Amino acid sequence: MNDTSCWKGAVMNIDQILIDMTLEEKVKLLCGKDAWHINGVERLGVPEILITDGPHGLRLSEGLDHSKTVPATALPVEAGIAATWNPQLVKIAAKAVGRECQHYNVSVLLGPGVNGKRSPLGGRNFEYYSEDPYLTGKIASAFINGIQEEGVGACLKHFAGNEQETRRFMIDAVIDERTFHEIYLAPFKMAIDQSNPWTMMGAYNKVRGTHACESKELLEDILRDKYGYDGLIMSDWSAVVNKVETVKNGLDLEMPGPQERDQQLIDAVESGILKIEDVNKHARRVLELIKKATENNKTVEVDWKGHHEIAVRLAEESMVLLKNDGVLPLYTHEKVAVIGSFAKNPRFQGGGSSHMNPQQLDIPLNEIAKLGKVVYADGYEAEYTSEGLIREAVEAVKDADKVVIFTGTTEMLESEGFDRADMKIPSDHLKLIKSIAEVHNRIVVVLNCGSAVETYDFEGVSRALLQSWLPGQGGGLAVANLLYGKSNPSGRLSETFPVRIEHNPSYGAFPGTKKEVVYSEGILTGYRYYDTKKMPVQYPFGYGLSYSSFSYSNLIVDVGRLAVYVNVRNTSGIAGREVVQVYIKDVDSYEFRPEKELKGFNKIYLEPDEEKTVMIQLDEDAFAYYLTHLGKFAVESGDFIIKVGSSSRNIHVEKRIHIDSNVDVREMPTLEDTVKDWLEDPRTKDRMNQMMEQMDIDEYSPHYGIMVGMPMTKVLWFYQMQGASDEDIQKVEGMLCY
Ligand code: GLC
Repeated sequence: MNDTSCWKGAVMNIDQILIDMTLEEKVKLLCGKDAWHINGVERLGVPEILITDGPHGLRLSEGLDHSKTVPATALPVEAGIAATWNPQLVKIAAKAVGRECQHYNVSVLLGPGVNGKRSPLGGRNFEYYSEDPYLTGKIASAFINGIQEEGVGACLKHFAGNEQETRRFMIDAVIDERTFHEIYLAPFKMAIDQSNPWTMMGAYNKVRGTHACESKELLEDILRDKYGYDGLIMSDWSAVVNKVETVKNGLDLEMPGPQERDQQLIDAVESGILKIEDVNKHARRVLELIKKATENNKTVEVDWKGHHEIAVRLAEESMVLLKNDGVLPLYTHEKVAVIGSFAKNPRFQGGGSSHMNPQQLDIPLNEIAKLGKVVYADGYEAEYTSEGLIREAVEAVKDADKVVIFTGTTEMLESEGFDRADMKIPSDHLKLIKSIAEVHNRIVVVLNCGSAVETYDFEGVSRALLQSWLPGQGGGLAVANLLYGKSNPSGRLSETFPVRIEHNPSYGAFPGTKKEVVYSEGILTGYRYYDTKKMPVQYPFGYGLSYSSFSYSNLIVDVGRLAVYVNVRNTSGIAGREVVQVYIKDVDSYEFRPEKELKGFNKIYLEPDEEKTVMIQLDEDAFAYYLTHLGKFAVESGDFIIKVGSSSRNIHVEKRIHIDSNVDVREMPTLEDTVKDWLEDPRTKDRMNQMMEQMDIDEYSPHYGIMVGMPMTKVLWFYQMQGASDEDIQKVEGMLCY
């Protein structure tokens, strides 16, 4: 029974409880009671608590029947939530989810997931925020703060290197140090720094050879020591392989339970393999979580209608208008043919553990029909169509003014548990679109998918393209409002839409071999790759159209305050929202850096013709990058270009600035480095010049070019080859060593 009321008002004295607990009771705490409960200590009055999925809305099984879950507000999936670029709104939505958790007595919500998007084929890309670590970290922090402000814990997951579904339980993610910190760990660190999640979840996979849930490097060295994280770390469900190793290396809680491994731990303690201090440390963290949960437990009456309105608003702000030649907005007097069964049976969520039971569900077709004159045809059923369905659809569009076709992926194509085979919409959907295009030329395509799809096959016949993601229970009303201009599109892509999958930098290295997946693209993932390589993309990161238009001017950068100011004007007659994005380019970095990196953004609302001075605050580490030889992030002195725009490819104003740093990021030249390295580094330049003077060598000497390319270990040999005496060689050798 999950009744935490017994502790309402009482204070759990954890120190005393640990003293009173037996080893058996402590060990029992380190494993869940069942799929969704964490054990308490009944003898000492410590209650069990309830934890459950899911990251964009509560998924709580009724009893142990996982096929039935309680009704709760279904938000858009994470990819869509990130596409709002609106942390304030995300936090409001998260607070609603937090209240629903309280209502159902759930103490921890298992989300958000902040893994990266190496490839658009990632099966769970829908459930992760962005290809960019900064956007991911900001949105995740907003979500976690929202949940936790309602007294419910979040669970930052899956730590780490879980960027694919293929062989996720055993694949070894081979990630170089800089890429790991700069791209895949960065969102975790930002979320820890900016929202301090009550719990985290270790991933299924291995990272650099060791299972994440038993990796001392991940759980102790990085999370505890480097990041100072002090919350509870649980395993992903059935992610524990070597229980003793997980306890030894930092995992607090194995989920789910029971796992019948208590005796294994007891034996390990009694035989000295495992220190009792480790067991106590983990048991303490479980008790601390239970204490926090019980102290924050409260009775909440849910405003379901209000939560639905939040879900609609979030869905509206998540949808991205990718193309519009003026065919949108629709007008109420127009006859509109709506084609595609997704309009009737909406694709509002992804497959897997995030799958939930929406408290209500707006049907796109019904909502569109409330705003205009509509005819409808199924067009297809799931991935498949038929001659009959196509014929019906073609008939339906015959005398329509405009056609709106819904397409995208299905749960058979995009879900947790497997990666996508390609980036295409179902071939039968394409067949339907092309058949309709033969008889109609005012086609709007609405995409339901959790990650990028190739659009080149139907771009030519689409006069407008709206990416609606998997938009949650409010998606039906949201899409109708946007199509008819009752709301103004303001979503911006949270991931690049490449022209085709082969252009993606991970192509050929995703999902790896049977044993390992090497992140060979390194830090050049997403727009970092496409923009650095100056590659064409279908739709760039950060991109999205509006029914309004905006202009940018008067960029000011206050380096001291890390603040960027820019004037933005709404140059249209329609009020709308713009996402002002700030990217940086390190002009002359010691190690290679991408063409641009997102380091700030601000979503603003502007009335027609209104102009605002927008301030974008950069984080302390905005100019830093990870230097492996230093083992940390550092800012390098030098020039940067601040690029401000409405997408990674639409930079409207930029300014060159200089940053002074007291950190010398360069590696001190060693004897293995070349004469050139020694001449170019100010710390060894003088000594090298003195040695060359002593050797009577300068840039006009024969073989000078050969010499400067030599490692310092060869300089004496080179000097000897020039006929130097033993005495002279000893003099130079003396200069080399001091
Ligand atoms: C799943 C997922 C994780 C989820 C957990 C509980 O396998 O990887 O995200 O929270 O199990 O359902």
